[in-house]
Amino acid sequence: SRFFSYKDTVLSCEGVALDALAAEYSTPLFVVSRNALVEQYRAFEEAFSSLSHFTCYSVKANFNIHVIKALSDQGCGCDVNSGGELFRALKAGVDPQKIIMAGVGKSDQDIEYALQSGIFMLKAESLSELRHIEAVARRLGVTASVGVRINPNVTAETHPYITTGDSKEKFGIDEGSLDEMFDLFKSMKHVNFMCLDMHIGSQIFDTEFYHAATEKLLDVLDAARAKGFSIDYLDIGGGFPVTYEPQKPATPIEQFASVLIPVLKKTGTTIIFEPGRFIAANSGVMVTKVLYRKRNHIGKEFVIVDAGMTELIRPALYQSYHEIIGVKQQEATIVADVVGPVCESGDFFARGRTIDAVGEGEYLAILSAGAYGAVMSNNYNGRLRPAEVMVDNGRTSLIRKRDTFEQLIENEV
Ligand code: LLP
Repeated sequence: SRFFSYKDTVLSCEGVALDALAAEYSTPLFVVSRNALVEQYRAFEEAFSSLSHFTCYSVKANFNIHVIKALSDQGCGCDVNSGGELFRALKAGVDPQKIIMAGVGKSDQDIEYALQSGIFMLKAESLSELRHIEAVARRLGVTASVGVRINPNVTAETHPYITTGDSKEKFGIDEGSLDEMFDLFKSMKHVNFMCLDMHIGSQIFDTEFYHAATEKLLDVLDAARAKGFSIDYLDIGGGFPVTYEPQKPATPIEQFASVLIPVLKKTGTTIIFEPGRFIAANSGVMVTKVLYRKRNHIGKEFVIVDAGMTELIRPALYQSYHEIIGVKQQEATIVADVVGPVCESGDFFARGRTIDAVGEGEYLAILSAGAYGAVMSNNYNGRLRPAEVMVDNGRTSLIRKRDTFEQLIENEV
C-alpha cells in the first residue's frame, strides 16, 4: 500500500523503517499508520456521500484509544459492544451522542453505564433485553433511545464463525417475534424506538447479501410504520470486505454503495454504518522476529517466530490468510511453515507457504493485521500482550506498552 512499502530495501510505514522500530520497541510489535486509517475512513465517507448517514467505527476491530481518537478527530462516531468498549470510546474523547452500543448479552450494568453516559442509542437483541432496558431507564428516570437488531435470516458466504444474519445464529430479534415486539414497545414508557438495525457478518464480498438483508429490514420498517412508530434511523451494520490476498481482491466499497444507496434513499431515514475491518485492517502490520529455522527429515522447513496465536489469532481461529513478507527485501525464497512459540499445533501463521528467505534474527511483517489483531491478543502460555506504535507522517509514538511479567499476576489477589 501507499503506507507500507519498501524504501531502500527495508519495509517502511509512512517512510519509517520497520526494522528500526523493531529494534527500538522489540517484537512482536504492531505498527499502525494513522494516515492509512484516516484515508480508509474518508474513502468510506466518499462512497456514501450522497446518502444521509453517519458512520460509527466498530471499535472492536482496533480499540486502542489512539486509533479511536484518530477517527473521531475526523468526525467519525463509534459502535461499542460492551461497557469496556464504551469506557474506551469515552476515554478517547468521543462525543457520547456519536456512540451506539450493540451486544447480544448486555448486562444491567452495561445498560446503566450506557444510559448514564448519554449515548446516542442502545441496540437491543431480544424482547427480554428490551424489558431490562425499560426497567433500568425507569429506575434512572430517563428515556432510552433504542434500536432493535433484526435477524434478517440471510446467510452470508464468509467464514461460519463470522456470519451473523442467519436464523441459526444467536443474533438479533427473529421475524416471528415482531408483533410481540411492537406490542411491547407500545406498553413501554421509558423507551424511544427509533432505529432498525442489522449486521449480517464480516468480510462479505457479495453485495447481494446486503441487498437481500436490507430488503428484509425495509419490510420490518414498513410494518413498524404501519403500527404508528416513527423510525428515523436504519443501521445496516458493518462487514465490508478488505483485501488480504492480492489474488483475491475485495469487492470495492463503491459497488456496495451503488447497490445500497438507491434502496436506502427511498426510506427517508438517516443511515448508520458500522465498519470495523474496512477502516482498520490494512492500517496495521505485525512485525515479528525469526527466532529459529529448522528442517526435519521429511524435508519440512519451519520458521519459528516470536509472535504467535496469542498476538494474532486469526489464522488459528478462522484459517485466515495473512501475507507475510521480509522486513528486509530478499531475493531468495523458501517454502516453510511460519509458526509461533505457543504450545498448540494451531499456532501458525502460514503452512507450506513460499516466503522470503529470512534468516534467524531477521524480521518478518505479517500484513493486514490492523483489525482483529492486537485487540484479540491474550496472555495464554504466560505471553505478554504486544506493544503497539502509531506512525503519523514519519513521527512514531508508542500507543501501547508491552505487558510486563508483573501485570500477569497483578489481579491474583
Ligand atoms: N457491527 C456489529 C454489530 C458487529 O458485530 C461487527 C463485527 C461489526 C459491526 C464490524 O464488522 P466489520 O466491519 O469489522 O466486518 N474477529 C473476526 C471478526 C468478528 C466480527 C464481529 N462483529 C475476524 O477476525 O475476522
